[in-house]
Parts: sequence; structure tokens; C-alpha cells
Amino acid sequence: MKILAVNSSARPSGQSKTKLMLDHLVEGMRDADAEVEVVDLVRKRINKCIGCFTCWTKTPGRCLHDDDMTRELLPKFLESDLAVFATPLYHFTVNAELKTFIERTLPAIEPFFREKDGRTTHPLRGPHPGIVMLSVAGFPEHSVFDQLSSWVNFLYGREGGLVAEIYRPLAEVLPAPFVRDMANEILDATRQAGREIVLSLKVSPETIQRITQDIVEDSRAFLRVGDLMWKTCIEHGITPKEFEEKGMMPRPDSLEGFMDLTKIAFNSGAASNTRAIIQHIFTGKVKGECHFTIADGRIVSSNGRADSPDLTITAPFELWMDIMAGKADGQQMFLEQKYAAQGDLNLLLRMNRLFGG
Ligand SMILES: Cc1cc2nc3c(=O)[nH]c(=O)nc-3n(C[C@H](O)[C@H](O)[C@H](O)COP(=O)(O)O)c2cc1C
Repeated sequence: MKILAVNSSARPSGQSKTKLMLDHLVEGMRDADAEVEVVDLVRKRINKCIGCFTCWTKTPGRCLHDDDMTRELLPKFLESDLAVFATPLYHFTVNAELKTFIERTLPAIEPFFREKDGRTTHPLRGPHPGIVMLSVAGFPEHSVFDQLSSWVNFLYGREGGLVAEIYRPLAEVLPAPFVRDMANEILDATRQAGREIVLSLKVSPETIQRITQDIVEDSRAFLRVGDLMWKTCIEHGITPKEFEEKGMMPRPDSLEGFMDLTKIAFNSGAASNTRAIIQHIFTGKVKGECHFTIADGRIVSSNGRADSPDLTITAPFELWMDIMAGKADGQQMFLEQKYAAQGDLNLLLRMNRLFGG
């Protein structure tokens, strides 16, 4: 089977979640012996369709633009058994790079009007590859893909032209250390989807379920931490990429923000054998009390005082945020009595690892 995989993300490999998902899909396809070529559209020169219909009249099947689409990509597309369209979700649909590519496949159809099942269509000029749609989104709800799915089904859905749809919401979180196991499971399922597509021209509902499963338990807490990240980016005048490269941390400005961030930074792998209650008492700019119950590799946050905490930390809020961000040394601050800790001090020493995400 010959497959052309078209990647329309403008972000470089390593940063692009579209590419991350596509790489795993392609790996699975190659495992199943398909011949796959991956094309990054940002590296290609593809002019926009100008609606002249030259490709339907003067030179049937050939566009008037002499660019990478005419010379290389359209012939490759039409020679393929399958084409994968991989796109970040932009404004709830494909991005402009992919839309431009799709519009430039116009020479593959003929101008004549045909009616089928009450719908007007144009006939195909010749063989056309089956389409696999792959998209990733920033928002957490699966319904963010409804418009894209509806459109792609309308466009390619007839007569088995649409082979599979693979959609991953909340994709920005995929590389984060605190979801490592879940992300590996999702990427492994994406690889499996690639194998299934080659072997059976479909993806099983079980594999789709594995790809689309919730990646974090509390996506709202994740979005609130996302808001803190944007605030930090705006304050420092940096992009999210620079934020990540500098190893920065979203800085909570409320007790709720601290509770959200702590849950997200929790490293369940490092805590699998830990059962503990950690109490925080904050003084200073943000006053308040909350505690975290850790058991079976999970963490639950609660407001107020715990009955019998294993460790109680009393600290000025701003100082604790500096320690979390790595701006202040927790052990040094403890020795200098800038904050107090009572109870299991081993637990205090392990906090860097427990919240290493
Ligand atoms: C211009 C633009 C529009 C976007 N529109 C949406 C959107 O409508 N819905 C959504 O959930 N995410 C949206 N996002 C977020 C991207 O889908 C998300 O960040 C995705 O992971 C990017 O994929 P990439 O890493 O391959 O670039 C948008 C991002 C940009 C830059």
C-alpha cells in the first residue's frame, strides 16, 4: 500500500503535536508494510487556487500554477492508495495550509454536474486516494472536532472515500511529564491505528477509544493552570515556547491556583508507594489553608485543615511559590527558618520528586 502523509502544522518537529501523532500513525503503517512518504507542507511552495478553471478547460487535469503542488504533490497524491491529512485544529477546522492543498486537488475532478442521492457533485477524473483525517486540538472537549468531522464526511465520506478519522483533544498536554504514562498509551494506540488502517482500512472502536480517552482527570484544573501560564507569558513578554525553554512555571496568585498546579505537578510514578497527608498553611500575601491526600499514586486536594496530617508546612505564600518555581532553595529556606515544617521531614525532602512534573 502506498500512502502520502501530508503534515500541515507550521510548528517544527519536537513542538508540533500534529507531527507527534502523525509520526506514531506512520510508524504503525510502516510496521504493517505500507510505503509511506511524509510531506511537510511548510517546506513546499503551494500557490492558492485562483478559481480560473484552467485545470478544467484549457489543460484538463493540470493547474496553471507551476509550483510544488503541480509538479510533485498532486501526482504523488493521485498515485497513492491512501492520503493522511494531518492538521492542527484552527478555528475548529483544518488550517489554511491544508485547505490550500485540498483546494489545489481541483484538477482531480471533472467540471460536469452529477446528481447523486439528492446532492450535486462533480465526477472524479480518475483514481483518487482514500482519506485519513488526523487532527489535534487545544481544547479538551471531543466536540471541538464536530465541524471538521461533518465537513470531511461531506467532502470525502461517500463510497468509502473517508477511511478513518483520528482526533485528539487537549493535545498540548501530550509531552508533559505528569501525563507520561497516559500519553504513551495514546501514542501507542495511534501507532495501532496506523497498523489497522493498512490491514483493514478502518480503525476499531477500541483503538479510537484509547486515542480519545481523557488524558488528565480534571481538565478544568488543567485549563486554569493554562490561564496562569498565559498570564506569566504576558507579564514576561514571552511566547509559550520560550516559557517552556526557560523551564518556567505558571505562578499561582491564589490558594485555588496553588491547589490546581500542585495536582498537575504531582508525579504519580514517584508516589506509587506513598500514603500521606500534606497540610499547607499560608501566611503573607495569600492567606489560607489546604491539604493534599496522597494514596495509590493519586492526589486529592481539599480546603482547610486535615485531621492528622503527616507533614504541616507553614510558609509565606510568595516564598513557597518561589520554592516551587525553583527560584528559592527549599532546604536553604528551611534552615534559615523562612518557613516551618512539622512532622515527617523525610516527606519534605521528597517533595521535589513527588511534585517533579
Ligand atoms: C490560529 C489558531 C487557531 C486555533 N484554533 C483552535 C480551535 O478552534 N480549537 C482548539 O481546540 N484549538 C485551537 N487551536 C490550538 C491548536 O489546535 C493546538 O495548539 C494544537 O495542538 C496545535 O498543533 P501543532 O502543535 O501541530 O501546531 C488554535 C491554534 C491556533 C494557533
